[in-house]
Amino acid sequence: MSENQLMNMQTDECKNSYEALRKDYDELVLKSAYHEQIGTLAAGIAHEIRNPLTTVKGFLQLIQPFLAQIEKEEYAKIALKEIDRANEILYEFLNAVKPSSRVSTSIDVNHLLREIELLYESEAKLRNIILTIKYDTENPFIYMDEKQLKQVLINMIKNSIEAIDSRHQGRIELSSEISGKYVNIIIKDNGCGLPEDAVQSIFTPFFTTKSEGTGLGLPICKKIIDESGGQINISSRLGEGTMIKIELPLCTEFKLNA
Ligand SMILES: Nc1ncnc2c1ncn2[C@@H]1O[C@H](COP(=O)(O)OP(=O)(O)O)[C@@H](O)[C@H]1O
Ligand SMILES: [Mg+2]
Repeated sequence: MSENQLMNMQTDECKNSYEALRKDYDELVLKSAYHEQIGTLAAGIAHEIRNPLTTVKGFLQLIQPFLAQIEKEEYAKIALKEIDRANEILYEFLNAVKPSSRVSTSIDVNHLLREIELLYESEAKLRNIILTIKYDTENPFIYMDEKQLKQVLINMIKNSIEAIDSRHQGRIELSSEISGKYVNIIIKDNGCGLPEDAVQSIFTPFFTTKSEGTGLGLPICKKIIDESGGQINISSRLGEGTMIKIELPLCTEFKLNA
């Protein structure tokens, strides 16, 4: 090979890597502009949502004594807790870069699953979905921020509900099972499932297959679980369903007594 040919080759290589770099840079600029727009949009939406939430909260507090009379006060309590949670999510959304401080406590996993069941049993019925819970008999406890874990489970259940076509008999099964020093919280559905390539992308921010999806649910869930020393695994088959396994470290006695 002549010196000239060698130089031409090197120039071509340089050109190619420059073009690749340039493309990455352009994509990055585009992405950050997009994130900025989303941020501004989120701030606007958060502001608009807070006002109606305050109104709903006020009315709920007003009817709480009447619900107590018919022994249904628990519904108001859960709804009020949910409104507070929604407010916190809005707040966290606005402060995406500086996450809100976590308050870790020991959590009775089975109790939390029961609470989630209460929250979703009527919606499930309405959508022709049978929601079942299987509890580990040893009552697993974990140590993390309860509201964050609830946020994760609610995101998962919502995804399962959205994956199920209401014309079919839907099934969602929530379960807890101890495995060594961990507890697995499993959410299994018989919804639409996902093709293999989509499974690789579900934790990528803004990846969504829904016309009104945000693609932010699962990345936020993953962040929460990672920060709590856990892991999320997904297995899915197109047309058959999806199983999400959240593995979290069991609470040690030291933390339980702390
Ligand atoms: N249980 C599930 N069954 C089928 N697809 C799912 C399930 N959970 C998540 N997905 C897929 O992962 C994508 C990302 O989910 P998520 O981050 O919660 O965002 P969004 O729900 O706003 O689309 C969904 O759009 C969907 O394609
Ligand atoms: Mg979602």
